[in-house]
Amino acid sequence: MSGKLENKVAVITGGSSGIGLATAKEFVAEGAYVFITGRRESELDKATKEIGRNVTPVQGDVASFDDLDRLFDVVRREKCHIDVVVANAAVGGLAPEGAAASPEHYDRVFNTNTRGVFFTVQKALPLLNDGASIVLTASNAHYKGIPGFAPYSASKAAVRSSRGRGRPNSRIVASGSTR
Ligand SMILES: NC(=O)c1ccc[n+]([C@@H]2O[C@H](COP(=O)([O-])OP(=O)(O)OC[C@H]3O[C@@H](n4cnc5c(N)ncnc54)[C@H](OP(=O)(O)O)[C@@H]3O)[C@@H](O)[C@H]2O)c1
Repeated sequence: MSGKLENKVAVITGGSSGIGLATAKEFVAEGAYVFITGRRESELDKATKEIGRNVTPVQGDVASFDDLDRLFDVVRREKCHIDVVVANAAVGGLAPEGAAASPEHYDRVFNTNTRGVFFTVQKALPLLNDGASIVLTASNAHYKGIPGFAPYSASKAAVRSSRGRGRPNSRIVASGSTR
């Protein structure tokens, strides 16, 4: 490892599983200190053990303003600043059991994937160092037209649009399927 994140502080939402957890491990291996979030304490505990060092888990839902405020209060108290925000937490595609998407499903997907990403970044802004990076996890689903995934795809298209222009240190990352 090159140590290119030596002494950097990162906040990774949805850092207890999948891409978020892999990112957290990689960041720590490169020298960073990471704050990871997720709703389930049990998964956060497991992830914290796997990462092993330089990690603070903060339980919370990105759709909740109170939880986001609590997250950034912890970061402010422990580290005072942020170098990288990875707004990655999201819920997946299909409505339960392949049913037509209900208003509840639509709201859950958008409240997490779009509103959650937007306000994670907004609430992180006061703590960002000069030159800090913002990474938003999108998806290739927004242009693929996958049956049953319309709310998910639309939520990820909105994430892409929320980046704005002229922000050299913001990045959208989009993966295809990892499973
Ligand atoms: N995997 C793929 O094939 C793929 C493809 C394209 C894009 N992506 C995107 O990549 C990102 C990561 O996907 P993944 O497959 O790695 O996901 P994953 O393994 O399902 O992990 C999702 C993470 O987000 C957390 N999370 C979910 N809802 C949350 C909420 N409301 N508040 C806080 N944390 C929440 C989960 O923990 P809790 O459940 O405990 O909250 C978990 O830590 C997502 O943005 C996803 O849309 C994934």
